[in-house]
Order: sequence, then C-alpha cells, then structure tokens
Amino acid sequence: MLALLVLAAAPPAPHVATGTRGMVASDEPLASKIGAQILRKGGNAVDAAVATAFALAVVQPTAGNLGGGGFMLVRMADGRALFLDYRERAPRAATREMYLGPNGDPIPNRSLDGLLAGGVPGTVLGMHEALQRFGKLKWRDVVQPAYELAEKGFPLSGTQARALRGQEKRLSQFSETKRIYLRDGKPYEPNEEIRLADLAATLKRVRDGGAKEFYLGETARRIDADMKARGGLITLADLKDYRVRVREPLRGVYRGHTVLSAPPPSSGGIVLLQVLNMLEGGTERPASSHTLVEAMRRAYADRSEFLGDPDFVRVPVRTLTSRSYADRLRATIDPARATPSAQVKPGSEMPKESEQTTHFSVVDAAGNCVSNTYTLNGSFGSGDTIAGTGILLNNEMDDFAAKPGTPNLYGLVQGERNAIQPGKRPLSSMTPTILLRDGKPVLVLGSPGGSTIPNTTLQVLLNFVDGNMDVAAAVGAARLHHQWLPDSLAYEDGLPAGVLSGLLAKGHLIADRPRTLGICNAISLDPRTKVRTGAADRRYADATAVAE
Ligand code: DON
Repeated sequence: MLALLVLAAAPPAPHVATGTRGMVASDEPLASKIGAQILRKGGNAVDAAVATAFALAVVQPTAGNLGGGGFMLVRMADGRALFLDYRERAPRAATREMYLGPNGDPIPNRSLDGLLAGGVPGTVLGMHEALQRFGKLKWRDVVQPAYELAEKGFPLSGTQARALRGQEKRLSQFSETKRIYLRDGKPYEPNEEIRLADLAATLKRVRDGGAKEFYLGETARRIDADMKARGGLITLADLKDYRVRVREPLRGVYRGHTVLSAPPPSSGGIVLLQVLNMLEGGTERPASSHTLVEAMRRAYADRSEFLGDPDFVRVPVRTLTSRSYADRLRATIDPARATPSAQVKPGSEMPKESEQTTHFSVVDAAGNCVSNTYTLNGSFGSGDTIAGTGILLNNEMDDFAAKPGTPNLYGLVQGERNAIQPGKRPLSSMTPTILLRDGKPVLVLGSPGGSTIPNTTLQVLLNFVDGNMDVAAAVGAARLHHQWLPDSLAYEDGLPAGVLSGLLAKGHLIADRPRTLGICNAISLDPRTKVRTGAADRRYADATAVAE
C-alpha cells in the first residue's frame, strides 16, 4: 500500500487555532468547519464529531467513510467515559482460509482489493449510537451538512487530488470508482469541484431513515445485491446482525495523569500503556530515545502474540498493562545496547497494517471531549464502490491474519488469536486517547498510520507531559517508530541533533531513509484559563483546526 505522503524535510508546523469554547481538529478544512458550525448551533462535542465524521465521508474518500469502521472515545464533562467500538466484522461466510490459494499461501491482493476484502461496515451505526447516547441535536441535523456537500459539490482538497492521482491505476479496476472519482480516467485537479451524486442519495436516505435505513433498508438491499452480483460476501443478514460494542475505555496512569485509551479489539491502548508503564518506572525524565525505542520494541512483541477480538479470544489486558509486568520488561533493557529483536520473545511478528485512516478530535465549550479514529484501512479501502450507493468499501479484512503462524506477503508472521472467524473483528492499532489531569481533560489525541499509530500517540503525549511542550510543538516534533519486527528503527527528519547518531552508537538498526510517521490532530485544554488549542497536523497538508 502506498504511503500517502513522502516527507523529505522536518515535519511542517501544525495548523493552530485557539479559543475558549469548542474546537475541532481534523484532516480536512470543510469537515472541521462543519463540526465547528454544529457547535455554534448549540450541538455538543458528540454532535459535532458525528457531523465531522459524515463530512469526512464525503470530502476525504481515502479514509472518511460510510463503508468502514472505527473507534470513538467519548469523555463527557460530568465524568462519563465510553469507548464505542464500531469496527467492521467478518461476514458470516468468511472462512479462515478465504485468502489462501491452492498451495496454502495468501493470494496477492485478495484481502486488499475488491469486494472480498471488505468487513461489514460499522460507521453508520457507530455514529447513531454516539448520538443516541450523548448527542443533543437531531440525527438529520448532523447528517444534513454532509449530504449538502455531496449533493452540491465541493472543491477537492490538494491532498485528496494527489491521492487519487497516485492510485489511478488501482482504482481504475473498479468501474463505479473509476466513473465517480476518476471521471473515466481523467484525475481531478486540486480544488476542482467534485459532485458525488450516488453518495448524496445514500446520505439522504440515511438522513431520513436513520441507521436502520443503512442496515435494513434500501441501502442494505443495494449492498446485498451488488455483493451477490459480483462475488462479495456481505449479505442482508450480516448487515442486520451488525452491532456496535460499547466498551469500557482502557485506563492507566502516567505521572499523575489519567490516560483513557482504546481497549481490544485495538492493540493501541495496550501498547501505549505498556510503554508508559515501562518509562514511568525508570529514572530518566524525559526518557532517552534509546529507552523509548527499547520499550516500543517490547510492547510490540507482545502485541503480535496476545491480541485479538476480546469477543472471540482471551486477551490478558490486565497483565499486559500492569506495573509489575512493565517492571520486568524494563529490567531486560540494556542501557548501553539495543537488544536485537530476535532476542525479544514471543516469537511471532506484527500483523500487517497499511496506510490510510483519519483521526479527529473535538472539544465543546462545556468540556465534553471526543477522540475519534475511523478508517477504510488502506487508502480508498478496497478501491471498490458498491453499485448504486457511492460507498467505497473498506479492506479491513486484511487486518486479520490471513494465515496464522506463517509469514504473509510482507514476510510477517501473524497470531492465531487474530485468525479470521465469522462475525469477528480484526485486530486494530487505532488509539483514540484522552489525557486527564486532576480529573479534567487536558489533551485529546490520536492518529492514523497503521502499526505506527500507538507510537505516534505515545510520543505526542510524552512531549506534552515530560517535554513540557505545548500541543503544537508536541504534534510538530519529529518522531521515531519501532515495532519489534522488522528490527528496524523508523524515523522522521528533524530529530534533535545527536539523537540518530546516539542510537546508532548503541547498535540500533536504523532505516535507510526517513519517512512520515502519523498525522496527529490534537486539542489541548487548559483547565485554569479555559483556553483550548487545536493543532492540526500538517503532515497531512490540508489538516485544519477550527474554533467554535
Ligand atoms: O485498524 C487499524 O489499525 C488499521 N486498519 C489502520 C490503518 C491505518 O491507520 C492506515 N493509515 N494511515
């Protein structure tokens, strides 16, 4: 999967907005503006988040979606906190070996391109559940702005125009996608108007009929018909059976701050807390980059082995996130030398993940907070648009282990707990997170970036807490990434002088070239002054923060 952005220089400064009321930070200016308008109309953070998600489904086809899924972490000012898991599920007809060829090896691209790559979408029901539980406004009021964008047309952002051009060949395989997004082969220019008539019609039906329409009504029938006609697996029964899971957020403590983050079926919160636990028990503050990388290496080794959908497999969350376990892991870190990953057990590797997702953060005047990461998995998901709906289908099935125990396409071994089963959710790395100090929210954050997500979230949090950086500096600072295997340290240009040479001297195996790591759209809250600062990460060139 292509990375959307290749960065040759230090990360750009984030786009910043400040105010004392609400704030929205997302990848696309039109979506952030819609979120802020909902706040001005009296909506709360959840109303604004739902409107932002629907708007991104229109203006950011690489990742915003109706045909995908994700996680929303909500923390209300009265203290209630919930994690809405609207991750896709494997269809009933999915089988453990569905992506393997006659020789027992994965068939290239089978879990990435076209209808077979799609899990049952969760986004529409996820948004409905969020609004039902926490929203103040009516469903139609939060869907309407997205419908209007699709119906009237809008200027396609530069980032999206470049992404479409980059994927022209792949997307051209799918006739509906080609007709809609490539105008039969001629790519859109940045800021050129695009109208999405089929998607508008779907949004109108969903606006009028609610989530029921998507899962039981005309939209469901159209999805079912196209799947039947073109060999996809998702049926009316799959759509009818789809459920959002309302979970307890994962909770941890780091230097007196409460960390609320993503529980399984994400690995993100667990990796985040494992690393934070390892760091807090040590004596360095801030931790050296060597200690940080060694802690990442160890947390990711566990990720590969122990994590999967908790509705199907036992995940030892408490052990993995306990202090005593972190102490034991920390004791294995040699302060002078990198530990080769081959010596860090367990012996299976990271599930493969790919490169496009979107995170946004919303805060309202009352201090309610939403941290939302949702995705189609790869850029434009499966690339395939479901006929008669304008909906790009996800390729989230690729987050499962296509063949547990043996290397996949990318030489990665994947865990048994993440094998395909009907109805199961594939293991994720998405890490929507909210940080509290003295019971008050101080930072809302998260990121796309597949396997790099927990580490991006981690470093922005560390910059903020231990580096005493404001949110813009914390987001803008160059990052590192280690995921155990491959035993290679990824990095961005712009790290402080001496960091890379210091790591090299300790024996870290450093990647040949820098790359971009994550896109963290974050908001900080100052409980004393009430100032909220949105920092939209310009690693995605259009990212924009808008104050209420
Ligand atoms: O759930 C996951 O972890 C992946 N499907 C996310 C993919 C992703 O972040 C791609 N982003 N740039």
